[in-house]
Amino acid sequence: MYSNLSNFADKVDNAFIFILGIIIFFLVGLTITLVVFIFKFRESKHKKAEQIEGNAKLEIIWTVIPLLLVLGMFYFGWIGFKPMISPAPDDALPVTAQARMWKWNFIYENGKRTDTLYIPRGKPVELKLEALDVIHSLYIPAFRLKRDMIPGKEDDMWFIGNSPGRYDLFCSEYCGVDHSAMYTQVVVLPTDSFETWYVDTTKPKIQAKSGEPAGLTIIKNNGCLACHSLDGSKLLAPTWKGVFGKEETVTMNGQKQTVVVDEEYIKESIYEPNKAVVQGYKEGLMLSYEGIISEEEVDAIIDYIKTLE
Ligand code: CUA
Repeated sequence: MYSNLSNFADKVDNAFIFILGIIIFFLVGLTITLVVFIFKFRESKHKKAEQIEGNAKLEIIWTVIPLLLVLGMFYFGWIGFKPMISPAPDDALPVTAQARMWKWNFIYENGKRTDTLYIPRGKPVELKLEALDVIHSLYIPAFRLKRDMIPGKEDDMWFIGNSPGRYDLFCSEYCGVDHSAMYTQVVVLPTDSFETWYVDTTKPKIQAKSGEPAGLTIIKNNGCLACHSLDGSKLLAPTWKGVFGKEETVTMNGQKQTVVVDEEYIKESIYEPNKAVVQGYKEGLMLSYEGIISEEEVDAIIDYIKTLE
């Protein structure tokens, strides 16, 4: 509470505290009233129940007080929400936030692309929201921010990160089996560290986790295993176990054809996944990874798939 990690956080907290205060007041007040009435109006004291008909004063009180409370909730909610939906300041740093099943991508103006959101401290950031397939929702609890992302709808959100650190960023709209895996972080950097990070556009070398083939690291980082298994089990997409060199029946331009799964076919499946869909699987579930997985990385993936016999 009141950590004030983003420029909007304290106003959201105010609304929360106000509503929580009302809840606690009524919980305590009603419980006390209940106990008092149980004693005061017990049977030995009040043998006969009385019927009360109409009491204008009471009725006004129980209409006006809740009305004021609800208007108060609206007031605190509105003054917290209004600045969030106001246009971003002109000097805001534009970043495109892309959501797809089940992965986040952040694209900066200089072409830099990451799966973690890096932002400078104290500077407004404007996120252009792009849902590529289904409805997702971008949620940063520490910043008290959440916004739905609807495919085809142009939308954005802005905020300022106040203190350096790492904060959770979730998808908060159920978007399929691996919805819970749509998790990343916002990293708020001091201004100079951010500048250094931002201008460095050298593509990161494929770095395999120790003891892991590079291809497998790339596969994991891109969320491929949500749909493709490595052990032969059938998920939403064909397994990769023993797939290399296999003959598959595919649908291409509405025609059934047989293809051999070779380097070419794997590459095409990554860049144009819906061109030739293997029989028994749904078209349109996978989106192109062109521009996300480099050709070099595709080669590493192919090398890895070849080892899955
Ligand atoms: Cu994306 Cu849930």
